[in-house]
Amino acid sequence: MLPTQYAIFSMKFKSVCSVRPYSSKKGISYFTTPIYYVNANPHIGHLYSSLIADAAQRWHRIRNRGAKIKFATGTDEHGTKIQQAAELNNSSLPAYCSGVSDRYKVLADKFNIQYTDFIRTTCDTHKRTVEKFWDRLQQNGVLYESKYEGWYCVPDESFLSDFQLTKRTSKNGDTTFVSAESGHPVEWTEERNYMFKLSSFRNELEHWLTTNENAVKPRKYRKILEELIRNDNALVDVSVSRPSSRVHWGIPVPNDESQTVYVWLDALVNYLTVAGYFRTPEAEFNQVWPPDLQVIGKDILKFHGVYWPAFLIAAGLEPPRSILCHSHWTVDGEKMSKSKGNVVDPFQRSEVYTSDGLRYFLLREGVSSNDSNYSDIKVVNILNSELADTLGNLLSRCCGTNLNPSQAFPMFNQRWFEKVLENDVTRRLIDHVTELPGVCERHYSDHNFYKAADAVIATLHAANLFFETLKPWELKKEAWRANELNAVLHLTMETLRVTATLIQPLIPVLSGRLLDKLSVPVNRRRFDDVLEPSWTRGHSDEKNLTSETAVLFKRIDDKRDKGRKIN
Ligand code: ME8
Ligand code: MG
Repeated sequence: MLPTQYAIFSMKFKSVCSVRPYSSKKGISYFTTPIYYVNANPHIGHLYSSLIADAAQRWHRIRNRGAKIKFATGTDEHGTKIQQAAELNNSSLPAYCSGVSDRYKVLADKFNIQYTDFIRTTCDTHKRTVEKFWDRLQQNGVLYESKYEGWYCVPDESFLSDFQLTKRTSKNGDTTFVSAESGHPVEWTEERNYMFKLSSFRNELEHWLTTNENAVKPRKYRKILEELIRNDNALVDVSVSRPSSRVHWGIPVPNDESQTVYVWLDALVNYLTVAGYFRTPEAEFNQVWPPDLQVIGKDILKFHGVYWPAFLIAAGLEPPRSILCHSHWTVDGEKMSKSKGNVVDPFQRSEVYTSDGLRYFLLREGVSSNDSNYSDIKVVNILNSELADTLGNLLSRCCGTNLNPSQAFPMFNQRWFEKVLENDVTRRLIDHVTELPGVCERHYSDHNFYKAADAVIATLHAANLFFETLKPWELKKEAWRANELNAVLHLTMETLRVTATLIQPLIPVLSGRLLDKLSVPVNRRRFDDVLEPSWTRGHSDEKNLTSETAVLFKRIDDKRDKGRKIN
């Protein structure tokens, strides 16, 4: 969004707030996950969104030494859906919300989601931010009172028009309407509420979407939004409050207690609360705003890709720089969802797969533009073949006391190196390792985590092949070939150093342990530390291995573990 666009807009709506010039550089990079409803416990779909955001911000840290990051996650706790869930659980609303919110926090901690802020929409700071944001919208003349007559979908907390519905016939022949997108039931609703002039933001939305290549990624989802924005039936004014008589669990509309702020407006403002909107001096807020990457699932694309930028522009704020939308995890082809109950429990699975194991599987298998089907057989196969047999095996091979009695990461020596270089497999390995940082950078920048994993695994395959071909156990038998043995061990460990550094965003615990084992200092685990492997630099000193275990990832015994823990 260009400054002039804001200026024009602000004049149109008599904005009193200052126009924030677009600055490509700000001090702090801001990453967010959706805030999750506390109507039920988390499943791997929620974990997946958090992992994508976490891997992205971890890459940013590795890529940019000294990067300052704000990374927000949290829980969405207001609205009818939560009111009903608490009732069903015979629980008071505050106690119910705290209980489930805690589960999300424990989940984030267990899987090493490196958030800087965990926001709950029931906290006072958020309430005040929503009130300030509401006041700003009202001052800017984009709200009006009206009567809403139409459909409301409680599971989605969404107002829907006729064209967004589809008929469903039950077994006994009754027909009902459901949301065409989610399949959730809707109810006819007539009520007074405040409306937001969404329909007057077509040009601003179109401008944001089409002039900023990264606004919504991947392209498939940007296209969906472009169509939506151009559709007169879709881009209609939207209710932003509900009568308090119906929705008491929420933030009251400022100066009108009879209305509660619509839960989606309330929820979206969480991103502003974390950024310090209205609380911190403007210069500080501008260090954080706008968000650099907002990760969402495709089920909430309309809210983030239409309502959210429109609300922001209406308040004179910059819309997000990039929204990364991903598809869904399914079970037997059906979307995994709390309301369907077909969920995979990340806590339970992590007992067998470990937290890094499940991280790896989800980021390795999930692709943004297509749904992925979850299956335990697939998890076991991937973890065994890639983490145990490929990565773990290579580490234990070169750290075993038979081959490596002095427990050293041998130095690099050009002469020793030339000898092993006579071999084709060595040259191929060198090529892989030398190219890997650039390849990973490209895939991480595109958020194609599975491709980064693929490139790392291909390099590790090349290293395992190198190891088998050069047969260090044979070299060990002949004392005069000790230097060749050192060269093989060095090359293997240098490969492990580079690959582990580059795979940190996906498996931070395992790669951390591996780098500890190789005595790589914590401040030497960045992108620029692996751009030049030892053979390019021309030197590297001998180091001692640490006492950290060389058994990185234990093979999962399918029958034993499944029988014992998963089912
Ligand atoms: O919608 N596969 O919360 P929510 C992949 N509170 N990701 C999935 C998934 C699946 N099967 N199921 C859920 C809300 N997710 C609102 C958000 S944000 C201001 C408010 C992930 O608890 C995905 O990111 O229903 C999806 O968008 C989000 O969880 C929805 O979580
Ligand atoms: Mg949902």
